[in-house]
Amino acid sequence: MEKELVLVLDFGGQYNQLTARRVRELSVYSEMLPYDSSLEEIQGKNPKAIILTGGPASTYQENAPCCDPGIFELGVPVLGIGYGMQLMAFMLGGEIEGSPACEYGYSQLQILEPELLFSGMPDDIQVWLNHGDIIKKAPEEFTVSAKSDNVPIIAMSSPARRFFAVQFHTEAQKNTCGIEVLKNFLFNVTGLRGDWQMSDFIADTITSIKEKVGGKKVLCGLSGGVDSSVAAALVHKAVGDQLVCVYVDNGLMRKGESEEVIKTFQEQMKMNLVYVPAAERFLKHLQGVTDPEHKRKIIGEEFIRVFEEEKAKLGEIDYLVQGTIYSDIVESGTRTAPTIKSHHNVGGLPEDMDFKLIEPLRLLFKDEVRIIGEKLNIPPEIVWRQPFPGPGLGVRVLEEVTREKVDILREADAIVREEIKKAGLERDIWQAFAVLPPVRSVGVKDGARTYAYPIIIRAVISDDAMTAEIARLPWELLEKMARRIVAEVDGVNRVAYDITSKPPGTIEWE
Ligand code: XMP
Repeated sequence: MEKELVLVLDFGGQYNQLTARRVRELSVYSEMLPYDSSLEEIQGKNPKAIILTGGPASTYQENAPCCDPGIFELGVPVLGIGYGMQLMAFMLGGEIEGSPACEYGYSQLQILEPELLFSGMPDDIQVWLNHGDIIKKAPEEFTVSAKSDNVPIIAMSSPARRFFAVQFHTEAQKNTCGIEVLKNFLFNVTGLRGDWQMSDFIADTITSIKEKVGGKKVLCGLSGGVDSSVAAALVHKAVGDQLVCVYVDNGLMRKGESEEVIKTFQEQMKMNLVYVPAAERFLKHLQGVTDPEHKRKIIGEEFIRVFEEEKAKLGEIDYLVQGTIYSDIVESGTRTAPTIKSHHNVGGLPEDMDFKLIEPLRLLFKDEVRIIGEKLNIPPEIVWRQPFPGPGLGVRVLEEVTREKVDILREADAIVREEIKKAGLERDIWQAFAVLPPVRSVGVKDGARTYAYPIIIRAVISDDAMTAEIARLPWELLEKMARRIVAEVDGVNRVAYDITSKPPGTIEWE
């Protein structure tokens, strides 16, 4: 029986992929496509339902993002969310206007149509609204299914055509009824069975990698991080020894990391692993470079050059596996989302790259990747390893990267991680690490003046790195780290703790 698929069309809202993920959490496979995907491409996927997501635009602005109107003729149920609702109203003949009282905050929902989308919900739901435009008049065949005191149409539906729309975001945690609305849309309205689970993803991915690769050889840039390890293990399951993993020691790795990668993948998992010591060349290319994006590009390019050299040594190799996950793509800028940082394994790839890419995890969030890692029996130390950026310590030594600074940072970072582990906090904290800023300050040690670097400790809690809050580490733990760092790491005389959330900060400092 053909698997059910729900297509999510992306209109540029920052959290749109969360909608695709919530659908998967409800056991229905879903994929996200850009809003302007052709009708042919959409039909080719044979979706059982389509979701039009939110986005920052207004339907009346020039060049407002618009989907192919043929979507409304496919006979499949459509759910519009936020901008997706306004677009649905606009395209089907409703009227939109700028709201007199732009709603931003909680609003009491008055449900007028307690069946279908709002089935089984209490009467007194509050939803979080954040929008400028409102729908003044729903399209002809629609009825209003929910309103609030300020907004006359918060939800509307055309049950005959199975079109539904809500102004609030179903994926947002703040809208506690959001998941119920999605559930009702998928199962109550669309009549889906919910026939998908993560093990299907593994089996399907293995099959499609096998088909794609055939008898060809595949190269994988293995960093030992969760993403590249899981990607490599998936591809290894599909093509076995056709896969050669290359671990590049770029001189920007954490303490003990290279040894651990060799032990895990070569000795325990019996994968083909080539170890390439390349610290010198990376550090040479980084000399004098201070701009973070420039550093990323340099590191990304150098990675690929190293791969190309290894490829030349290994003979005929066509494919390159990358552990790109969804948050890398979003933050590097998609067709609908602006660039925040170009993550080296996406934005920094040189254009003349001589490989075809295999990116089996590109639709997934980190915790989904970890579930796959566990199912593939990757050792827990790797699956639960905290994320580490591709450019490594290169974006944690702020501004110019020198060997001396990297060595200082590596020692300080090892102390931070060791103490977090000892305190049993490793899994609760998304990332905890040290940063070395390009300033020095005066201190005193053994009665003498010092003029040395500070270390900034950063520890954050997050689900998917899209947003993060600071970890409220116990004072005693922070003090212990600080004492150890200034005592054990030469060249450091001060320690600070970063108490900025994301946004407005980012997790990394560069
Ligand atoms: P930011 O700093 O953007 O980080 O809040 C979000 C997550 O992405 C990681 N990160 C990177 N990963 N290449 C990567 O592979 C990069 O250039 C890069 N920059 C940030 C970061 O560690 C965090 O988990």
